[in-house]
Amino acid sequence: MAIKPRWADAEAIQEAAQLLRQGRLVAFPTETVYGLGADASNAEAVAGIFAAKSRPADHPLIVHLADAAMMPGWAEEIPDMAWQLAERFWPGPLAMVLRKKASVPLAVTGGQDTVALRVPNHLVALQLLRAFGGGLAAPSANRFCRISPTQAAHVAEELGDAVAMILDGGACQVGVESTIVDLSGPQPRLLRPGQISVAALEAVLRQPLVLPEAVASEIRAPGMMAVHYAPQTVALLCPVEQLQARAQTLLADGQRLGVLAYAQTLPAHPHLQVLAMPATADGYAQALYASLRELDGWQLDRILVEQPPQTEAWRAVNDRLGKATLAVA
Ligand code: TXA
Ligand code: MG
Repeated sequence: MAIKPRWADAEAIQEAAQLLRQGRLVAFPTETVYGLGADASNAEAVAGIFAAKSRPADHPLIVHLADAAMMPGWAEEIPDMAWQLAERFWPGPLAMVLRKKASVPLAVTGGQDTVALRVPNHLVALQLLRAFGGGLAAPSANRFCRISPTQAAHVAEELGDAVAMILDGGACQVGVESTIVDLSGPQPRLLRPGQISVAALEAVLRQPLVLPEAVASEIRAPGMMAVHYAPQTVALLCPVEQLQARAQTLLADGQRLGVLAYAQTLPAHPHLQVLAMPATADGYAQALYASLRELDGWQLDRILVEQPPQTEAWRAVNDRLGKATLAVA
């Protein structure tokens, strides 16, 4: 039976910690998105995460810790860079990939010899981690390939029948998943962009980050692209100058259309639902998943997403949009 979110007061947090100690799954808020947590030292509990999400077992999980001082319990050969980044950005939306300790279950790391660690910046997450005492493996609390949840109600929709408890700590402030930096190799590498920018990381590292390929150069043909955060309605990423014409064509064709608008307004139409997005990158990121989820709930034929600026500040937003949409040819 689907369970309802429970407001994360002190009593609920203690109960949640107890459930986690028993190897059960608890969804909890972080500053980025809601996580689906399990005891990271318990391989069986971790297996429950993969089952609940229908996630392939070779996708590694991030281990959440209450404090940077817990890093040596999970990682080996921790470089100075990791301590410096932790000092500057933790608690916060940054995950670091380090060489794992032998004791870390391979179920957590997808069989790899590295482990991703993060100290989240959310009071409920930190209180839960402290009450629990250990590390919590926690992917985003959505089913595999669906949009990450940024509110407790989204978790209930996605996973309400698969978790022991959903802690409600309100809407997530950052709204997109953490920045991930790989520090396990010879050079620091950006694996996933997030709110913490490349420039902010490089300022602490005092060396350039190796960046993933630019979004624009990825192959974006349907079926070949890395669809990852997709709504169920087909969503198209549309250049600003084509938005009006595309919308008119689809509406004239009798389609029910949703538009995630960045700057433009469109003439009203009975088959058109427009959501105006915030103008700043941080505001847009915070609203993104809830907005896609809302449009998805309206049983539309198509979603058009107006391309926001393609500048460094928008890297994380553009990365997620690239994964949630098809590019208009
Ligand atoms: O903001 C976040 O990081 C959220 C909240 C809940 O903390 N969590 C999250 O988890 O986004 P998930 O499982 O949806 O994404 C984890 C990402 C995956 O892309 C995975 O490939 C990468 O982290 N990852 C985890 N361990 C890794 C490792 N050892 N090496 C490389 N990538 C790793
Ligand atoms: Mg995820």
